[in-house]
Amino acid sequence: MEGIDEDFEKEQYFEERKNSKETELVKKYFVNESDRKVFADVFDKSTIQAIHTLAKKGNFDVLEYVVNTGKEAHLFRAVDSSGNYKAVKIYTILTSDFKNMEKYIAGDIRFKEVKKGKRELVFAWTRKEYRNLELLMQCRANSPQPIAFRENVLVMEFIGEGGNASPILKERGMGENEVEDFYRQVIEFVANAFFSKNLIHADLSEFNILVKGEKLFFIDVGQAVLNSHPKAQEFFERDCMNVAKYFSKHGLEKTGEDVKEDVKKLKGKFGKK
Ligand SMILES: Nc1ncnc2c1ncn2[C@@H]1O[C@H](COP(=O)(O)OP(=O)(O)OP(=O)(O)O)[C@@H](O)[C@H]1O
Ligand SMILES: [Mg+2]
Repeated sequence: MEGIDEDFEKEQYFEERKNSKETELVKKYFVNESDRKVFADVFDKSTIQAIHTLAKKGNFDVLEYVVNTGKEAHLFRAVDSSGNYKAVKIYTILTSDFKNMEKYIAGDIRFKEVKKGKRELVFAWTRKEYRNLELLMQCRANSPQPIAFRENVLVMEFIGEGGNASPILKERGMGENEVEDFYRQVIEFVANAFFSKNLIHADLSEFNILVKGEKLFFIDVGQAVLNSHPKAQEFFERDCMNVAKYFSKHGLEKTGEDVKEDVKKLKGKFGKK
């Protein structure tokens, strides 16, 4: 008898969920069936509400597929009613390394009021990435244009060609004739963000640079901090070191110090410091 009861309860449970608003919305926005399963595993209930709100405001119609899954977020290609693609980054509240996030938020004067707690931290992180993209847009750095955000969901410009997301520099690599120009673009980005907006990427590497044609786009700026952050210097030097290592591997010998010097040379071009 017990078994029958259990089966009945299970069936009822699924039946209820099947007709729940939440499940309906998941079906509506995640057109790819396997993404729905991913959704059920990694996102919480309120995430679908955030997606729903952003969609209702016209940011996109549906989420088409996962472009890439990082440690903290899933990046979807979305499409709006005019057929334009958008990048939608959804931070996972369950799996995010919030201890690590705390390090970058705690010292940022813009985020003093953030409450402790995982959800609050992930929301602050999303807002921080949006604000950082805004700063980068203001100084015309090559980063995706921010479009909207809500809770743990961020909508931004989709960087790609013919609907395909641009590859990261790590995968794309560089031709011999591109090395110098790509280096120049990296240095310009670092200098522009720093001298125009006091901003340090803090996770700059070939993994967080997209290559569209011959143009580099700098992504993943949730952790980027203002120069007033207590660890700003350390982060800045680490960025310069990563750049030096990558380009040295490709035949452009640079030390972290060289990179710093090359950035400083652009002070006059971008800022007053
Ligand atoms: N605006 C965009 N347009 C197209 N593709 C993007 C865009 N932003 C991110 N991507 C893709 O999604 C991937 C993950 O994005 P991002 O690096 O911002 O997230 P992440 O979760 O922090 O990743 P990780 O933790 O692995 O560094 C990128 O490596 C890139 O392939
Ligand atoms: Mg990344």
